[in-house]
Amino acid sequence: QTGLTAYDPGYANIASCRSDITFIDGEQGILRYRGIPIEQFEQTPNFVEVAWLLIFGHLPNAEEYAAFSDDLTANADLDEAMKHHFEGFPRSAPPMAILSAMINALSCFYPELFEINDAGHIRTAAAALISKIRTIAAYAYRRSNGLPYIYPNPNLRYVPNFLHMLFSKPYSQYVCSQTVRDALNLLLLLHADHEQNCSTATVRMVGSGQANLFTACAAGVCALWGPLHGGANVAVLEMLEKIHNGHISPQEYVRLAKDKDSKVRLMGFGHRVYKNFDPRAKMLARSAEKLLAELGRQDPLLDIARQLEEIALEDPYFIERKLYPNVDFYSGIIMRAIGIPTNMFTVIFAIGRLPGWIAHWWEQAQTPGNKIARPRQLYTGCELRDYLPMDQRT
Ligand code: SDX
Repeated sequence: QTGLTAYDPGYANIASCRSDITFIDGEQGILRYRGIPIEQFEQTPNFVEVAWLLIFGHLPNAEEYAAFSDDLTANADLDEAMKHHFEGFPRSAPPMAILSAMINALSCFYPELFEINDAGHIRTAAAALISKIRTIAAYAYRRSNGLPYIYPNPNLRYVPNFLHMLFSKPYSQYVCSQTVRDALNLLLLLHADHEQNCSTATVRMVGSGQANLFTACAAGVCALWGPLHGGANVAVLEMLEKIHNGHISPQEYVRLAKDKDSKVRLMGFGHRVYKNFDPRAKMLARSAEKLLAELGRQDPLLDIARQLEEIALEDPYFIERKLYPNVDFYSGIIMRAIGIPTNMFTVIFAIGRLPGWIAHWWEQAQTPGNKIARPRQLYTGCELRDYLPMDQRT
């Protein structure tokens, strides 16, 4: 072995697979989807076209885009039988628990997609999953707030339809402004893929055993949930609110984050791969400023985030460890400005990441001679020893 200790995080970083989907240069802070720098999506953000790009490897032409958009519209409804599942959850149920359970439950309505062998199949499955994850998320939100479900509106495209299902009332439809539509499209597409992160690696792991796409994506939702991964966007908001409520100053928070004994981390900072700015954080910071300005709003949490960033980026502790803001540092401020509650933040991350999970599952499924993933370990347990009868045990 290479002198690895019992568990060496570096071991987890050894290249574990080849992929054509996303390129990251952590030292330079570069992120490209199928070769396209993410900055080039900023002016006309379109989550649906990025989803197509990631899954099928090229930007959709007008015909492909129109047809896929129509597929997403046609797939927005859930089978009425699925509503009973929602009623089975307590209203306090975490939306991420509902999301992973319902994506798995969804597979039961698509037995014909348990086997996906061609581009037609993956396109049908992708349209069903990418469209219905919105409806499931919206229904989870409505249920947890004691609100009636709002059916998808076939006259609305992806993001406006999602916000309609979240925020409309039975007799007054939520109207999505272009500003909000652009901000949520950008937020979703910036979360769409990120090579072998914890949740995507989970989807590939589950898929390597030839489990179906729905089940693999449900596993991805579970992996995303933790505060060190997709749950960090919630932890960032809680951190900013703690500072805003005067419980602690930004300076004191940063001091605590440097003190190992405090168990406090500067949430939304640091990254296993980026040792420079996460390019998504820069774009989301710009988007947060733009959205709030166009909505004519101030958010004190944005000012606090800017303060924390300024303090940390001048602090030797963060500089030496190359800790910079990551995708989660500003994303919550955008979702808060749109009116999305904190307990739905990681669900929004999952909606954004779903096309990446589908792309990786499909890339792996098409790999000739694909083998089941089977990581090895360094055994550090007891040496050989014998079984002892009960009366000989101490
Ligand atoms: C995402 O993998 C992906 O691509 C993920 C993601 C994606 O798109 O899928 O980018 C999305 O999950 C972003 C990360 C969200 N998580 C957070 O923001 C949580 C806060 N960040 C950290 O917990 C941490 O930075 C990680 C988990 C993100 C990365 O951790 P690593 O690479 O395992 O680094 P580490 O824990 O080994 O830390 C190295 C050093 C340690 O100090 P020393 O032991 O060297 O003295 O840096 C310190 C850590 O204590 N450190 C931090 C810190 N992050 C690392 N100290 C204070 N605050 C932090 N946020």
